[in-house]
Amino acid sequence: MTLCLGIETSCDETALALVEDGRLLTERIATQVDAHALFGGVVPELASREHLRVLAPLVDSLLEGSGRTLGEVDVVAVARGPGLLGSLLVGMSFAKGLALAAGADLVGVNHLWAHLLAPALEQDIAFPALGLLVSGGHTQTYRVDSPLAFEVLGRTLDDAAGEAFDKAAKVLNLPYPGGRIIDELAQRATPDKTIFPRPYVNNTNLDFSFSGVKTAMANYVANHPHLRADRMMSDMDELLADRGERGVLEELCIVCSSFNWCIAEALRIKVDRALEQVGKDVRSLIVAGGVAANSMIRSAMTDLAKGRGLEIILPSTRLCTDNGAMIALTGWYLHSAGYRHGMDLEAIPRGRK
Ligand code: KG4
Ligand code: ZN
Repeated sequence: MTLCLGIETSCDETALALVEDGRLLTERIATQVDAHALFGGVVPELASREHLRVLAPLVDSLLEGSGRTLGEVDVVAVARGPGLLGSLLVGMSFAKGLALAAGADLVGVNHLWAHLLAPALEQDIAFPALGLLVSGGHTQTYRVDSPLAFEVLGRTLDDAAGEAFDKAAKVLNLPYPGGRIIDELAQRATPDKTIFPRPYVNNTNLDFSFSGVKTAMANYVANHPHLRADRMMSDMDELLADRGERGVLEELCIVCSSFNWCIAEALRIKVDRALEQVGKDVRSLIVAGGVAANSMIRSAMTDLAKGRGLEIILPSTRLCTDNGAMIALTGWYLHSAGYRHGMDLEAIPRGRK
């Protein structure tokens, strides 16, 4: 039996989990969303300080909740990047200290691979798989031959899909973080497919580009200023009341739905193309990362997989966003395959988008 403690501090969630032989025992997560909401985005300095503040009590609570002691931990796995440098360094230093104190092995984990493997905590993944990773910082497709063999097929040339959602929400003064709010508003309407063009699909490659559609939303709002709330709405209830009173709720929902549709379509077209070009032998389609929580994207990918006779692997929402369980699981896979890192393990903040 191998007990692996995973640490995730790459952005604005401080998350820990204990995984034993691929099975999740306990997890703890301290989100910083409220702290950053005041600024309408993640403030790196604030994020590092928050990680530092909560890590030690969170470990105590994790161990207590699982009835395990630090001495029983065999492996400490830590997200080494990509992510915010300061935040990664806090997690990394803490992980090294913890590994020394526990007499455990240390394993550094690629945050993006961890997102793609997260669903293995809930269901078996049939390999080879095609992986779509859609988060706030990344949009990539991968061919995944095993839990240890990842090959990038396509990537965004500029913004990530989640970034486009968040920035679109910001120009509309929707509550932060905006992806989930756009999703909720979008579900109340049918998309008007003439409002926003599907971004970067008229080519033959596997890459993505979302900066154009983000600008298209900014231009649309500039031409339809009544859609934008006078100030940033604090939550969904306030948003619905304010927009409802002003009689623009229906129009706002159509705009969100159209925006969501064009992003979902760009993802669907490129994933389909990747399967066509390099995935004829692929058995499953994994959709992971924070944006994989999006309803329109989930249903587009489910239909796509069904049409091609593939198993669709969609993690539950809890496993889509940043979490410690995915780091612990990936660390456990790596450790089982013989990987170990020394105390000179470094953070890698900049992965390619
Ligand atoms: O994976 P994640 O938690 O953090 C990163 O590693 O980036 O992803 C966060 C991103 C944010 O951009 C957020 O707005 C987006 O995921 N997101 C969504 C939804 N839920 C979260 N985007 C669209 N629809 C959603 N339901
Ligand atoms: Zn992430």
